[in-house]
Amino acid sequence: MPSSSDPTARQSWIAERRDAAVATFTAKIPAIYQAGIELEPEVAKWAAGRADCPSLFLTGPIGIGKTHSAWQATRQWVHAQFGSDYRGTPVVEIFRSTALFDALRPDAHENSGRALVRHLQKVDLLFIDDLAAARSSAWTQERLYEIFDERYINRRPVLITCDVLPAELAEVVGDRVRSRLAEMCRGGVVLLQGADRRRGAAA
Ligand SMILES: Nc1ncnc2c1ncn2[C@@H]1O[C@H](COP(=O)(O)OP(=O)(O)O)[C@@H](O)[C@H]1O
Ligand SMILES: [Mg+2]
Repeated sequence: MPSSSDPTARQSWIAERRDAAVATFTAKIPAIYQAGIELEPEVAKWAAGRADCPSLFLTGPIGIGKTHSAWQATRQWVHAQFGSDYRGTPVVEIFRSTALFDALRPDAHENSGRALVRHLQKVDLLFIDDLAAARSSAWTQERLYEIFDERYINRRPVLITCDVLPAELAEVVGDRVRSRLAEMCRGGVVLLQGADRRRGAAA
């Protein structure tokens, strides 16, 4: 890292890191969510790191654009982490809820569930797509609690897409996670409205 006595060199060093991180992230975006879209103002504000709430809970009916918005918002969020308070390239983990719940199962792989919990407690941003889509067990809810409680007490952000509100999630995530999530996303719940975009595309 260049010395801080040369602000221009430091800035261009950070810009280089930023462009590399954004390019790496962009390569991970699934094909149908690659296109840049206009984000809802509140979502764009969160992505730019200007929202009061560090977490974002994107809700709304199926097909409204929650997942697409979340991928593009995360891309912008990564970009925004390279500002004046730059603290290294952020680590982002993205899971569909179904894949995450599978990976957390006790029989997934020996010890890998534990390692995953520890990892997801610490990553800079945890994005869980379609949280209400998965079916959980008491075991999964325990693991989720370990992840969310640690993130909650350290104010580490989550990005959730979900077709129901946090208050309606108890059945999926358990009551303790529902309560943590509601607290973490207070002021950060965004409802997307309008027509089903999938149907529009098929018409
Ligand atoms: N702002 C947008 N402009 C154009 N197409 C969009 C936009 N948001 C979403 N889409 C498209 O609409 C479809 C449904 O979006 P998706 O994010 O999967 O919905 P959801 O996650 O709410 O079910 C996808 O094909 C997606 O690419
Ligand atoms: Mg979706």
